[in-house]
Amino acid sequence: MSKVSVILGLNYGDEGKGKVSTYLAKDCDIALRCTGGNNAGHTVVFNNEKFVFHLIPSGILNNIDAVIGNGVVIDPKVLFEEIDVLKNYHVDLSKLHISTRAHLIFPYHILEDKLQEDLKGDDKVGTTARGIGPCYMDKANRIGLRVTDMYHDDFEKKLRRNIQNKNAIFKLYNYELIDEDKVVSDYLNYRDLMKPYVMDTVSFLHKQIENNKNIVCEGAQATGLDMDLGDYPMVTSSNPTIGGIQTGSGLSSKVIDKVYGVCKAYASRVGEGPFITEQKNAIGDEIRELGHEYGATTKRPRRCGWMDLVYLKYAVNVNGVTDLALNHLDTIGKMQSVKLCVGYKFRDKIYDEYSDDIIGYENEVEPIYEEYETNYEIGKINSYEELPINAKKYVERIEEYLNVPVSIIGIGPENEDVIIR
Ligand code: IMP
Repeated sequence: MSKVSVILGLNYGDEGKGKVSTYLAKDCDIALRCTGGNNAGHTVVFNNEKFVFHLIPSGILNNIDAVIGNGVVIDPKVLFEEIDVLKNYHVDLSKLHISTRAHLIFPYHILEDKLQEDLKGDDKVGTTARGIGPCYMDKANRIGLRVTDMYHDDFEKKLRRNIQNKNAIFKLYNYELIDEDKVVSDYLNYRDLMKPYVMDTVSFLHKQIENNKNIVCEGAQATGLDMDLGDYPMVTSSNPTIGGIQTGSGLSSKVIDKVYGVCKAYASRVGEGPFITEQKNAIGDEIRELGHEYGATTKRPRRCGWMDLVYLKYAVNVNGVTDLALNHLDTIGKMQSVKLCVGYKFRDKIYDEYSDDIIGYENEVEPIYEEYETNYEIGKINSYEELPINAKKYVERIEEYLNVPVSIIGIGPENEDVIIR
């Protein structure tokens, strides 16, 4: 029987999914990305080298097949930058497979991302400005160009038409215009470069399941950024929850065994949007410094705060999480004590659910906290039993509240700094 494990972020991204996927990839035959694009940034330390992946599943470092699924949006420039880095490390790239159905990001999407943010004024989302939203917009609008379209005779015609239509809009807003001939020539070049990697990944994955292969699906972004189930409109333009794994790969729910929900022992968020347990004070600054909370993709300082179990319960239910992966347990040990949010007070009522009744009024929501003494150091240990008592108390309270086992615990920055239970 094949095993399919899914790794999903439960908060707002940057939970350390890359590290968990690289670890799980050791027992897998295929690593898979299903959603998002180079708005993601997984930093992975492998054999003492630091790798930052934006598109390619980090599992490729384990010399297994790596699939960029149909739900991903691909900026070829970024793709080939990553391929070049991997080539330098002699990673076997014949194992990289790119879906014919994945949509392509073009320079006009990146410019549109900027334009749309400018037009939103005070309501800007704070996107990563990588053209992700506009690319998914074109996909929904049926004018997107997929990887497969590059190999059809009318590709150049369609691309020129798109550029001309987009330029008409940029002209209206006095924006710089896209150089049509340059983009066409660049993408005709990418078409040839990409050819060896392109395949029908849906059929490929179905075959792998038939052949009892094990697959790890590397989630990107996170539940709070889901277009439908996150904090709309402060979201990304895809579904980084369990549903996106299925539509973004062609794998059915029937074949998924394990859903690992990844979170940190505190919380962080990039960009705008609700963050009920945010600490806009010296505590938030301390967490940021201790946890090195600066964007892998954009280097932006992340907003930091306490772990929110009410929100996490929602994320666990949305995704059908079977196991939790809890990162940065070592980081909170460097503080004297930490807080866990176990309820919300809103207009004299207590809530234990992340409910639509209160989203949008987060400034009026008062988190209800439990305080836990931490102040411990986790050295090089191999088992749960060896954890300091304060760390165990914290982990066990999380398990009790969420009713899900914490199976993977991150105790340091290296890939090996993990305890499995
Ligand atoms: P976009 O995905 O670039 O359109 O950005 C939409 C929102 O999602 C912004 O708040 C981004 O900061 C956030 N976002 C997108 N990808 C990630 C990620 O991988 N980690 C954390 N935040 C992300």
